[in-house]
This record gives sequence, C-alpha cells and structure tokens, in this order.
Amino acid sequence: VTGRVILVGAGPGDPGLLTRRAAEALAQADVVLHDQLIPREALDLVRAGAEVIDVGKRGGGEQVPQGETNELLLRHARDGRVVVRLKGGDPFVFGRGGEEAIALAEAGIDVEVVPGVSSIAAVPASAGIPVTHRGVADRVTVATAHAADDAEPDYASLARAGGTLVLFMGLGRLDALARGLIGAGLSGSTPAAVVSRGSLPDQAVITAPLAELPECAAGLPGPALVVLGDVVALRERILPGVLLAS
Ligand SMILES: C[S@@+](CC[C@H](N)C(=O)[O-])C[C@H]1O[C@@H](n2cnc3c(N)ncnc32)[C@H](O)[C@@H]1O
Repeated sequence: VTGRVILVGAGPGDPGLLTRRAAEALAQADVVLHDQLIPREALDLVRAGAEVIDVGKRGGGEQVPQGETNELLLRHARDGRVVVRLKGGDPFVFGRGGEEAIALAEAGIDVEVVPGVSSIAAVPASAGIPVTHRGVADRVTVATAHAADDAEPDYASLARAGGTLVLFMGLGRLDALARGLIGAGLSGSTPAAVVSRGSLPDQAVITAPLAELPECAAGLPGPALVVLGDVVALRERILPGVLLAS
C-alpha cells in the first residue's frame, strides 16, 4: 500500500496556536519530518514509536537540501507510512509547502494540507499591531526580503503599495531594506516595527521610524517579522488595554 503525506502548519511558535487538526495529524503519523521553526511541544503529540526527523538542521548545522527532503517524503510514503511534514506557520506561506505538494502530487502520492496560523497576522497581533484597521490601513502587502535567488525585493512596488507592509526574513538585511524603501519613495518617518520571536515567551518588539529601524533593532534574535505602516503606531493605544496571550 502507498502511504500519504499530511502537510501541517504548526503556527508561529506558541504551542497554544497549534490547531486541533495539527494535533490529530501528529497523533496519526508514523513518521514526522519537521523544520526548525516549530514549537518543540508539537513533538509531544507524536505517538510513541513514530520516527521524528529534523530536516531543518542536520549534524553540521546546515539545512537539509529541499530535493533531499522531497525524496525522504516520497520514500516514506511509498513505504506505506503516514508521513506528517510539519512546518512553522502555514505550510504554503514562504515555507516551500507548495513545492513539496507538487513534487508529491507528480509522484502520485496523496497529499493532505492542514493550514496553520501564519505569522503574517499572528506575529503582529502578538505585538499589539493589527495589520488592518478601519481608517488607517485597508490593505496588507506581504513580501519576502530574501528571495530564493538573492534578488533585491521590488522596492518601488512595495513603496507605493499603501496600507501595511509585512516583510518576512528581513532581520539580516534591515539596512538594505530601509535604504531600498526610502530610496524608492517611502517616508523615513513611516512607523516601523520588528517583532522578534513573536508569540514565544521571549518575544521582543522594537518600534521606530523606518529610517532608524536598522539601528534600533540591531542584535534582535530571529525569527523576526518587519511591519511597516501607520498601524504600527496603534500599538501604543492598544497595549494598555489588551492583555496579550504571550
Ligand atoms: C521560512 S519563513 C516561514 C513562514 C511560515 N510558513 C509562516 O506562515 O509564518 C520564516 C520567516 O517567517 C517569519 N516568522 C516565522 N515565525 C515567526 C515568529 N514566531 N516571530 C517572528 N517572525 C516569524 C520570519 O520572518 C522568518 O524569517
């Protein structure tokens, strides 16, 4: 018999943000392949005797190449096992879940997707920042600051997007990001935030005008999300009244 693969989103880090469907999938799994960015507590939901493989980092510290992960998924599914592929956030948001689903589908393997709580909105929310707000931001643009081919983000289109910008994987290149966006016409006084380790007990939030963000956020640990726009300024009004979960 051929097994199947369940692509599962594990949420942004707080184990409380794992879904019930994620827990059910983990309890069913014969083998779990997970990334680095998952709540450790998720692995407590795996049944005794199941195999757990960390494909985020291997012995030497480097990430297992995507092709190798795809091969592992295929091999275990062909062995007739229920394979859970556990990823941080949502599997289809900057997580290569789509690539894995295509490789499996092309190989004739059944794939189920369990959506996860993506950091897109959950991480700003954990910091008291609503990504939309009536009269303040009626749209959100989500982009990666670190494209697969190392290309620069399209600063011009980001600068004129309006509303809120949520930028993934920007921590290591805040300088270039701020310079690029300001050079493309975004005001250096745009309210900006870096949310580090959102939803985790050691979450840290830095807010500053965009022009000062690189200096203010230097040294923050990852993972981190950059949020730009007037919604960031709402944090000061929201935080006093709201008891955030983290
Ligand atoms: C490879 S992407 C995976 C995104 C994930 N699939 C999702 O839906 O949230 C990793 C990036 O997501 C962001 N990220 C994920 N979890 C985060 C967290 N708890 N706090 C801040 N940023 C986070 C960071 O920008 C990090 O570099």
